[in-house]
Amino acid sequence: MKIVETVREVREQVRAWHQEGLSVGLVPTMGYLHEGHKSLIDRAVAENDRVVVSVFVNPMQFGPTEDLESYPRDLERDGALCQKAGASLIFHPQPEEMYPEDFSSYIDMNTLTGGLCGKSRPIHFRGVCTVVAKLFHIAEPDRAYFGQKDAQQLAVIRHMVNDLSFGIEIVGCPIVREEDGLAKSSRNTYLSQDERKAALILSHALKKGRESVENGEKSAKALVELIRKEIQAEPLARIDYVEVVDWNTLEPVEEIQKPILVAIAAYIGKTRLIDNFIYE
Ligand code: PAF
Repeated sequence: MKIVETVREVREQVRAWHQEGLSVGLVPTMGYLHEGHKSLIDRAVAENDRVVVSVFVNPMQFGPTEDLESYPRDLERDGALCQKAGASLIFHPQPEEMYPEDFSSYIDMNTLTGGLCGKSRPIHFRGVCTVVAKLFHIAEPDRAYFGQKDAQQLAVIRHMVNDLSFGIEIVGCPIVREEDGLAKSSRNTYLSQDERKAALILSHALKKGRESVENGEKSAKALVELIRKEIQAEPLARIDYVEVVDWNTLEPVEEIQKPILVAIAAYIGKTRLIDNFIYE
């Protein structure tokens, strides 16, 4: 497995693979890889002849008060995980390689990005769409793999690929959880011991929510109330949003008709965590 830093090196390698008739899967990441990322790489390795993992903490998707500087990084560990999982290439560009000084083209989406995380992170999806579009052009994959934990991101990227005719299959992969239910996230490393315990309220609240839908709850408002109440019982948790939306359009729904996305974001101490379930 090679680690390269330039667009040119990725292009040359990927084009050589395509010329040999080999298929290529791309797993875009910001590094500090955990079991959630590994599940994406495993799936990509199973479904493609070669797998490129990008490791790039994308400055464009962080707001001015967000955690760009403190975002955890460990390329050595990431390299070992990718190698063991069977990836063929890591693309680890410096910010200047992705965004030269005169960079001035962006991808903005008029739908899907304004609600949920887009409300409190207004520039986030512009940064995500722009970097993912660049990665698609650079790595020219047949398939690209994204986790369902970032459900809005997954829906936004599917929409972008459709709008802009990328011709890449987007594969959404299930959320990977710790044994006690906490969704795996690189940001879990920010949590103190007490916060780590408190964070469990998110998956517990969603579990209660899912049970109530499975038992026939049809009102989105009642479902939101139930989940909010659960989370509010935890003193270290502060809700950013709890929403029930159509899984395709991400528009709020009143009545629970499948498929819906039930998504939450909450601060546990200073750490903002997200979690969700899709009811299909
Ligand atoms: O999900 C992430 O880690 C990032 O948003 C992504 C897709 C790698 C783009 O920077």
